[in-house]
Amino acid sequence: MPAAPSPVPDFLYGTAWKEDRSAALTELAIRTGFRAIDTANQRRHYFEAGVGQGLSAAYRASIVTREDIFLQTKFTHQRGQDHRLPYDPRASLSTQVAESLASSLEHLGTSYVDSFVLHGPSSNYEWTDADREVWESMRNERDAGRTRVLGVSNVSLGHLEQMEATRAELPAFVQNRCFARLGWDREVRLFCNARKITYQGFSLLTANPEVLQHPPFIALAAEMNATPAQVIFSFARAVGMLPLTGTSSTEHMRQDLASVELTLPAELVQGIETIAG
Ligand SMILES: NC(=O)c1ccc[n+]([C@@H]2O[C@H](COP(=O)([O-])OP(=O)(O)OC[C@H]3O[C@@H](n4cnc5c(N)ncnc54)[C@H](OP(=O)(O)O)[C@@H]3O)[C@@H](O)[C@H]2O)c1
Repeated sequence: MPAAPSPVPDFLYGTAWKEDRSAALTELAIRTGFRAIDTANQRRHYFEAGVGQGLSAAYRASIVTREDIFLQTKFTHQRGQDHRLPYDPRASLSTQVAESLASSLEHLGTSYVDSFVLHGPSSNYEWTDADREVWESMRNERDAGRTRVLGVSNVSLGHLEQMEATRAELPAFVQNRCFARLGWDREVRLFCNARKITYQGFSLLTANPEVLQHPPFIALAAEMNATPAQVIFSFARAVGMLPLTGTSSTEHMRQDLASVELTLPAELVQGIETIAG
């Protein structure tokens, strides 16, 4: 019997591209108030063992316990990895999933994660037999209690529709790069909202310079006594997203967390939703 899902957090702190600052920045994020951490067992972009060191430091300093933290990691197909693989590439995909998660649990010093995400399907165009095998293995990991829930990342509406049409269990989370010019990934968000799947948006700032540098948008944020980044994160929440931030700055960490308290008028939310697409 799988354990009950952990409550969905209101912000995820992302640990990509932090290399030897991963431990210090993970600890800093927790000290500053983040209670949810996103990582991946993909050494090319993440130093997951460093994230684990940051968590241990936060536990040792009695800032939080494991139960206070929402931990999310990912399984990455070989095509998304460099030579530093967390599994034997000659093993079956289902064994690779089990080895990857076992290694994540070791890196993170825990017996379970709150969410285990397929970093990306094996094909950009369809949900393949390889994805089915991986997903089945991820479900086994969940049923064995090593993750509370499952997610998929970098998926199109087509992938999700194909999962549904083939009666695959749907994920609890979808994590995608969120472009304003695509209506902030409108099609995928609508699919998710209709099925109570929580949509996690990343690159909300970096993928959308045309919004963040738009003078009327900057003026509007100033009128609200907020930064443009805070308005974007607040907007994201207003349309049902769980936002990610990977800032390395203490000041930005504080500002990002403070955006949870910012409420935008409904007309403004609608205006931002259609600002570029
Ligand atoms: N599933 C996937 O394939 C995938 C892909 C990419 C990312 N992710 C996840 O998403 C996380 C976030 O990545 P991201 O692509 O959204 O980029 P990010 O790492 O959050 O980068 C945000 C950039 O915006 C800057 N920034 C300026 N003002 C900021 C503010 N107030 N708050 C936050 N940042 C501010 C940051 O600079 P400062 O550091 O100076 O603040 C940083 O350079 C990653 O760490 C990772 O966990 C997942």
